[in-house]
Amino acid sequence: METHKAHCLIFPYPMQGHINPMLQFAKRLQHQGTKITLATTKFVFKTLHEVSGSIRMETISDGFDEGENGVAVDTYYATFQKVGSETITELILKLKDSGCPVDCIVYDAVLPWALRVAKSLGLRAAVFFTQSCAVNKIYYHVYTGLLKLPLEESKVEIPGLPPLSASDLPSFISSYGSYPPIFQLVTHDQMKNIHEADSIIYNTFYKLEEEVIDWTSRILPIMTIGPTIPSMYLDKRLQDDKQYGLSLFNPMTNACMPWLNERSTSSVVYISFGSIAEVDAEQMEEVAWGLRTSNYYFLWVVRESESNKLPKDLVKETSDRGLVISWCPQLEVLAHKSIGCFITHCGWNSTLEALSLGVPMVVMPRWTDQSTNAKFVTDIWKTGIKAQSDENGIVRRDVIRQCISVVMEGEKGQEIRKNADKWKDLARHAFDEGGSSDKNIKDFVSKLIQS
Ligand code: UDX
Repeated sequence: METHKAHCLIFPYPMQGHINPMLQFAKRLQHQGTKITLATTKFVFKTLHEVSGSIRMETISDGFDEGENGVAVDTYYATFQKVGSETITELILKLKDSGCPVDCIVYDAVLPWALRVAKSLGLRAAVFFTQSCAVNKIYYHVYTGLLKLPLEESKVEIPGLPPLSASDLPSFISSYGSYPPIFQLVTHDQMKNIHEADSIIYNTFYKLEEEVIDWTSRILPIMTIGPTIPSMYLDKRLQDDKQYGLSLFNPMTNACMPWLNERSTSSVVYISFGSIAEVDAEQMEEVAWGLRTSNYYFLWVVRESESNKLPKDLVKETSDRGLVISWCPQLEVLAHKSIGCFITHCGWNSTLEALSLGVPMVVMPRWTDQSTNAKFVTDIWKTGIKAQSDENGIVRRDVIRQCISVVMEGEKGQEIRKNADKWKDLARHAFDEGGSSDKNIKDFVSKLIQS
């Protein structure tokens, strides 16, 4: 019979960039003897392309079991809250009846109503923030009214952070008034009940954001448990842990890995804008020309939903140097010796992955938290450079080509590579026996058992 120290229900927002880090945290808890169940929506479960590993999954409903099909964001959130609260409660009661009671819900910060569900059922509640400590600190500053919007000054001073200009701030703040439901969620709803949570978990690591973590810790008892990268890319203590293990897209592994195997060390530019960003057709064309004229091999992920914006004939005309695919196993790609640089939108997962694997970056933030992540990559961690956009917000082909050559060749590139190696080591140390994240995960489990 299986014996477990405690049972955690992991409840991420049903998006790749939120499932990956929370699932990875779940594996670490499981390794410490905790029983894990991951809850996802019926629709996501039905459309999964890849599931591997030993995490048990259960489904709940967000009210859109056949897909949300363009429903307004605020309607989606409201329906998810109503139907999700009911169905996750049913799931927890079902698990209790089947002799497998849940002790704690680890819920995504962007599903703040899960705290009410946990408390109403007498369970512990741990809130999991999938974004950086810096970004959370900025949102908290807005929540407490210390950062007034619309911005009154061109530079923003927040304790623990470097001076930030408007363009370094999350898009919901710099473009005040854009996406009101998301603005309300990140600057208010996800913060307002945070003090009632039994644990506040951040996907970052101490050395990476030392100053802002120290400042935040004065007001909130946060614990850092990142980077949430499979163990075989870090401490290598979880032998089978090489992939996240749950993919909402079809990774074209057989197309890209053999192609990379044929390339020499540091000769390929990898480019991806993550799982949700929509890129203008004009911008796609500039990227295509930047890659085409750069003289390097390139691997470009263009999601199926974006592929109609690819310039006609690009694939055919660059087939000797480029491979364009709709999704890839990103960790395997970043860890491949042929990758020389990563042109990234700076989603927090992609940023942590590049840092943990020591890959130099060219940053091209699109929206949400990405500009702030990009600022840290270029100015604080110094593991990349920014491809600056013009007055119309488009990064032009020449800029892209120049950035690629700066990172792939020359003195600046070497300096970036040295810094990238440094952060790779520090990320691994956080997970080595006794490292900051390793220690925090063990503390989390021991508190769970004592409760
Ligand atoms: C979103 C937001 O955009 C991001 O800023 C936020 O911090 C988290 O939620 P997303 O845009 O998808 O996420 O970017 P990112 O955070 O980088 O997550 C994408 C994930 O998909 C990464 O873990 C990456 O490894 C994976 N991925 C991406 C693949 O496995 N294959 C690909 O081809 C592209």
